[in-house]
Amino acid sequence: MNELQQAEEALQKAKSKVNGRFRLGYHIMAPANWINDPNGLIQYNGEYHVFYQHHPYDENWGPMHWGHVKSKDLVHWDHLPIALAPTEEYEKGGCFSGSAVDDDGVLTLIYTGNLFIDREKDILDQSQCIATSTDGIHFTKEPLNPVISEIPAEGSGHFRDPKVWKHEEYWYMVLGTRKEETGKVVLYKSKDLREWEYIGVLAESDGTLGYMWECPDFFELGGKHVLLFSPQGMDAQGDSCKNLFQTGYLTGAYYYETNEFEHGSFNELDHGHDFYAVQTFLDDKGRRIAIGWMDMWESDMPTKEDGWAGALTLPRELTAGKNGKIQMSPVQELELLREAEHHVCVDQTVSGQFLIETKEDLIEVRADFDLSKTNAKTAGIHIRGVNEEVTTIKYQIHEQKLVLDCSKSGKGEDGIRSTVLQADGRLSLRFFIDRSSIEVFANEGQAVMTSRIYPKEERLGIELFAEDGNAQVSGLTYWTLKDIWE
Ligand code: FRU
Repeated sequence: MNELQQAEEALQKAKSKVNGRFRLGYHIMAPANWINDPNGLIQYNGEYHVFYQHHPYDENWGPMHWGHVKSKDLVHWDHLPIALAPTEEYEKGGCFSGSAVDDDGVLTLIYTGNLFIDREKDILDQSQCIATSTDGIHFTKEPLNPVISEIPAEGSGHFRDPKVWKHEEYWYMVLGTRKEETGKVVLYKSKDLREWEYIGVLAESDGTLGYMWECPDFFELGGKHVLLFSPQGMDAQGDSCKNLFQTGYLTGAYYYETNEFEHGSFNELDHGHDFYAVQTFLDDKGRRIAIGWMDMWESDMPTKEDGWAGALTLPRELTAGKNGKIQMSPVQELELLREAEHHVCVDQTVSGQFLIETKEDLIEVRADFDLSKTNAKTAGIHIRGVNEEVTTIKYQIHEQKLVLDCSKSGKGEDGIRSTVLQADGRLSLRFFIDRSSIEVFANEGQAVMTSRIYPKEERLGIELFAEDGNAQVSGLTYWTLKDIWE
């Protein structure tokens, strides 16, 4: 039996032991055991493919494989056989994150071969590799691997997560690296995906943006260039960047001829607890679609007891907002998940609480508040229980602060995340609950918050509330959603 068959067999065994209490109904997860970053997002031969960092043998991180799912509509996903296992000398410590391109009909994965030199001292020797497929299922590792083995002069052996795209007649690759305590992104260029020329540093920390940048992505959005990356070692800035590691972006103007990137300051992309290592791709409708890992390295993962850990976020369309900011909205196809539609109220004045009883744990909710007719200081929604166990989304009107409070959601400490939202008289909350996750999109994705929650099954319900006054709710609708894995 080869490594892929062995991994597949282990996974099948693990699957039969998974406890379903927190399993997600419409998010990408592995059949069992550990996953982290999304990898190789691509539309290939008309189908959407998503790969992910996967340890098929255990519910904890370990030698990384690439798990694989595909979909025709970004909603219904099918598991495919594990695509990559660490089989070669240059990747003994795992097939780390990377991307995918369609090279004239050949699905080509570009990933990092990881080697641990000294794991305790965090000394790595990483290189860049490729694997190809013509059926979109079975991959062959390139005999020339690694295609980049030399560490860049301005980087170090921490040198990973290639994201490749084509511009005019060249392929370009960004990679995350560090030099001593400075995180950065370096750039390469190639004619054939095999021979790469080092161009230089695309961007680096000014001393405030961390010691290592992981999972870079570089693309155009609304006429500007965006560098998306996941820095390690940034300090929190007020309400921002409070997780162990961050995911955010720099926006600006890029000049290919000189490799100059003039950019503004760092913005966090999602303000919840569990969002990391996001990647994007362009689909045939011209949409820039992002998917992230819906967990974080520091997070408690009670599902490990159930034989699995980790999931990916819903696919989100990125658009350019005001002042160089990016907005994220769930892709439109997600409406396919909707089953029963419940129009709960229209033009309702809420003082205190207004409870909508439901036992459903897979729901989408849309609540609109007219803030011009609201005199409460705070308005929002409690979900999944009241009192001793509850998740709260609220807007503190004078401070213009959106708050996601998961401190009573079966999570560990540090349960609250907040962000500024300039609501301009109108607050629209759209959120998705999927058994053990919440994704909140406020005012068409101006502010987004993603967190895992672990409520007890019997604590359900949706409750509108207003504090210190009344809130005017222009409408509340919720939909029960389909379980795609059933
Ligand atoms: C980000 C990351 C990547 C790496 C992968 C390993 O979460 O640390 O930098 O390639 O995970 O699983």
